[in-house]
Amino acid sequence: MPSDNESLTQIETQARGQLDAVSDEDALERWRVAFLGRRGRLTLVLRGLTDLPVDERKRVGAHANHLKRELETALQEKKARLAQSITEALVEERIDVTLPGPPLPRGRLHPTTQTLRDVLDCFVSMGFQVVEGPEIEWDHYNFEALRIPKDHPARDMWDTLWIDYEKDGERPMLLRTHTSPMQIRVMEQTQPPIRVVVPGKCYRYEATDPTHEWMLTQVEGLAVDEGISLGDLKGTLADFAHRIFGPDRKVAFRCDYFPFVEPGMELRIDCFLCGGQGCRICSRSGWIEILGAGMVHPEILEAVGYDSERYTGFAFGMGIERIAMLRHGIEDIRLFYSNDLRFLRQF
Ligand code: PHE
Repeated sequence: MPSDNESLTQIETQARGQLDAVSDEDALERWRVAFLGRRGRLTLVLRGLTDLPVDERKRVGAHANHLKRELETALQEKKARLAQSITEALVEERIDVTLPGPPLPRGRLHPTTQTLRDVLDCFVSMGFQVVEGPEIEWDHYNFEALRIPKDHPARDMWDTLWIDYEKDGERPMLLRTHTSPMQIRVMEQTQPPIRVVVPGKCYRYEATDPTHEWMLTQVEGLAVDEGISLGDLKGTLADFAHRIFGPDRKVAFRCDYFPFVEPGMELRIDCFLCGGQGCRICSRSGWIEILGAGMVHPEILEAVGYDSERYTGFAFGMGIERIAMLRHGIEDIRLFYSNDLRFLRQF
């Protein structure tokens, strides 16, 4: 039991030394209990005072009480400093949640995809269903079944990339030159009523220039039902043209030839650049060609097993890059697939 100034000095040295090392509130509490708690070292000295002779009791008592006050003050100061450093640490770690975050690089849809989706949306809203077909096609579907027999001059309308696969001395496989073969595939597999649109890539053996690419995206349309007339075709396509190019566009239909439709026609809109006066964009004609269309040839209906007296249908096909070029004023089709980000970032 410490009973003199020597041991009080010892208690003080140890208390101060240990207090310096305290770095959090838990340790501080342990320090308090060890020295100033009910069974703390200093408390025990104070309690033991009654056992001392009067003289010594006074001297040691005064010293011990003095030390008690000093240690209590030191405790309070330490407590304040700890609280302070916690606040400082919080200030240090503070994040300003109102600051703008680091920018996330965002991708975008290719201009072909954007226009393709708009075109499909338009027909879907009219009740057409979207179906897809193979890009590698049989000669049969791409040409033969569409009334384009071998050695017929109509084949020259589609410059063809043939697949290097021979059967009976012939090459019956090709990269489809248009989406029209899907007309046949759909009719072979379903019965009327039919309303489908077919998006997809097509390929042509083509020297590229500002209006020709060897790969292009087409959307084919086919509707077969009882009582479908040329008026239905014209109404459907006029609606389409107004939705894609604006309600003020004039539309016109002109005769054209495709072996699989009768009659065949092309859809044109009046030139939005010159308003019909004639300019560079419309080749001075005042009109811009948008797509090919026509009434499904009765021989084709018969060939897939439909009664052409009962059923009639219309079909159309368009190049999506061409539509995107007209909508955005793009002057060279080769820009679409040349992967130049300066071009792509504009859309
Ligand atoms: N397939 C034709 C083409 O690629 C377009 C077309 C489709 C024409 C359907 C009439 C009917 O040029």
